[in-house]
Amino acid sequence: MKAWQLQGFGRENLVLADVPDPRPGPSEVLIRVGAVSLNYRDKLVAEGLYNPDVIFPMTQVADTVGEIVEVGRDVTRMATGDRVLTQYATRWIDGEPDGDEVVHTLGSTIQGGLAEYLVLDESAVVKAPKYMSDEEAATLPVAALTAWFSLVTRGRLSAGQTVVLQGTGGVSLFGLQIAHALGARTIVTSSSDEKLERVRALGATETVNYARTPDWEKEVLSLTDGKGADHILEVVGGESLAQSLTAVKPGGRITVIGILDGFMSEIPIFTLLRKQAVIQGVVTGPRRVFEEMNEALERLRIRPVIDAVYAFEDALKAYEHLYRGAFGKVVIRVRK
Ligand SMILES: NC(=O)c1ccc[n+]([C@@H]2O[C@H](COP(=O)([O-])OP(=O)(O)OC[C@H]3O[C@@H](n4cnc5c(N)ncnc54)[C@H](OP(=O)(O)O)[C@@H]3O)[C@@H](O)[C@H]2O)c1
Repeated sequence: MKAWQLQGFGRENLVLADVPDPRPGPSEVLIRVGAVSLNYRDKLVAEGLYNPDVIFPMTQVADTVGEIVEVGRDVTRMATGDRVLTQYATRWIDGEPDGDEVVHTLGSTIQGGLAEYLVLDESAVVKAPKYMSDEEAATLPVAALTAWFSLVTRGRLSAGQTVVLQGTGGVSLFGLQIAHALGARTIVTSSSDEKLERVRALGATETVNYARTPDWEKEVLSLTDGKGADHILEVVGGESLAQSLTAVKPGGRITVIGILDGFMSEIPIFTLLRKQAVIQGVVTGPRRVFEEMNEALERLRIRPVIDAVYAFEDALKAYEHLYRGAFGKVVIRVRK
């Protein structure tokens, strides 16, 4: 079969290769891949910033949808013909994390989905929502689950609360759609006025251009009568965390998700004490929440925002799009 393998760190080492067809072991399923979606994390993997110990060659990409075409002899949860999605933290089924969730992931330590076929333990897949196309469903495992787990499961978001979403990438746009559908007020930041127009069409209540207004946290305070936001999805990291601490309301929550601006942050501890805010890290979410979310997305009529769909042969163009920054998700159609 054909597979896009990382043969060394650096995007120039992402190569379309012929590899042996995989066969499922006793507890595994063989998936004919329909589509995959890219995450910022796939860029980190390619650059050696996610897992410096990748064993090459490694087939890339975590978010995958496809049809099960063969099952191992001990498989009971899934059957041939099921349309399934990959669970990002492959061993996290339910409950609190063990701390090694980022380790057992596709494209890093497990061969990924940017290939014609993928073999995975049956415990690491969930049924794909029937109302979504392959292209749509492929966007869910990382970006949607992270936004849902942060806002709904951990954050217990309720109608009328205010949510800040940073930028217009995959996690933030799912956060916007989920918050809007649940009746929250949303403040979205972006470096582009054109993208801010588009988020208003998706239901954003307020928008801030962070390129023109780098002190976006002051704008959040002014838009909330000086009170601050109930929830902030911190996908930027770096210096942004201290700004979020200014923008969050007393007793509010900052969910630390990403590192678009850097891996290290410095925060004024006295402000954290005074505000009694919660700063919570997350890594996507467990499988049970993924299944719960997929049902809720259908009820809430949420359809993923896809910026572009690329052909399997054009995977490098899809990566270029990811590196430029997408409005929502970048998808690669694998099955013709
Ligand atoms: N912890 C987890 O489980 C988890 C899960 C998913 C993602 N992440 C992390 O979360 C971050 C976002 O991931 P993603 O996949 O959603 O990324 P993405 O889709 O690649 O998002 C890119 C967008 O982020 C915005 N952006 C970039 N730099 C920014 C800045 N300094 N301030 C504000 N916005 C900025 C830009 O939006 P505009 O063009 O509108 O300015 C850009 O288009 C990444 O660091 C990723 O590794 C973590």
